[in-house]
Amino acid sequence: MRPLIVIGNWKMNGNLASNQDWIKTVARGMERGMPSGRKYAVCPPFPYLSQCAGLIKDISLAFLSLGAQDASAHIAGAYTGEVAASMLKEMGCQYVIVGHSERRQMHQEVDEAVAAKALQVLDAGMTPVICVGETADERNSGRAEEVVCGQIAKQVSVLQDRLADCLIAYEPIWAIGTGKVASAQVAQDMHHAIRHQLAEFDEDVAAHVAILYGGSVKPDNAVELFAMPDIDGGLVGGASLNPQDFLAICQA
Ligand code: 13P
Repeated sequence: MRPLIVIGNWKMNGNLASNQDWIKTVARGMERGMPSGRKYAVCPPFPYLSQCAGLIKDISLAFLSLGAQDASAHIAGAYTGEVAASMLKEMGCQYVIVGHSERRQMHQEVDEAVAAKALQVLDAGMTPVICVGETADERNSGRAEEVVCGQIAKQVSVLQDRLADCLIAYEPIWAIGTGKVASAQVAQDMHHAIRHQLAEFDEDVAAHVAILYGGSVKPDNAVELFAMPDIDGGLVGGASLNPQDFLAICQA
C-alpha cells in the first residue's frame, strides 16, 4: 500500500516572521491529530531551510518533514549560485523537488539534467520528487500522454531501479497557479498512463512509486483527487502558503 504524501512548495515566498507563524499554526493543527499512514513535507526557499528545520525540531513536529525546491546536478565545485544535494541533507531535508516546470521553462532544464539532479539527491540519501507535465498546447493537440510518458521514459533510462526510491509529481503546466485544476478523472488517467509506462520497465517499481498530483490543489478539490486509485497525494503550491489550507489538504 502506497502512503498518501502531501508536499507544500512555497516557491519564492515567505519571510522569517511568516515562516514562523506558518510552522506554529501547522504544528497546532497537526497536534490535534492527523490521519494515519500519511506523510507531509514543506519546501521553503533555500535561505529559510535552516530556520524551518530549527522550528520543526524545537516544536518536535514529528509529522512534518523538510524538503528543498531544487538541487545541483553536480557534487561540489565552481558552480556559483548552486546548492549541492549533500548541503540540503545536512540542513535536514528529506525531499528535493527536481525538474519543476518553472525550472524547465525559465532555466532551460532538460530531462537529462533533471535525472542527473535526481541521482545527486538519491546519492545524498534523500527522496527526489521528479516533476513531469504537459503544456496547454500539447494537451490541446492530443499529445499530453506522449509528452509526459516521454519525460518518464528519459528518467527510467537513467535512473533504472533507483526510481523505486523516487516520487513522481504530475503537474500539468496549464493547471499550475491558474486555478484550472485537472478534473480528478483527467489526472487519474495520466497517473495511470505514468504507472503503465513505469510497469513496462518493472512491475514492482510501478506498484511501489507514489505519484503526486500538482496544479491548483485546494482544500475543496483535494478529497476527490486523492480518492483516485493512482493519485497518491499532492504537490501544492499557492494553497500551501496558507497554513489552514495546507492543513485542510493534509487532512483531505
Ligand atoms: P499551484 O498549487 O499554485 O497551482 O502550484 C502547483 C505547483 O507548481 C507545485 O509545485
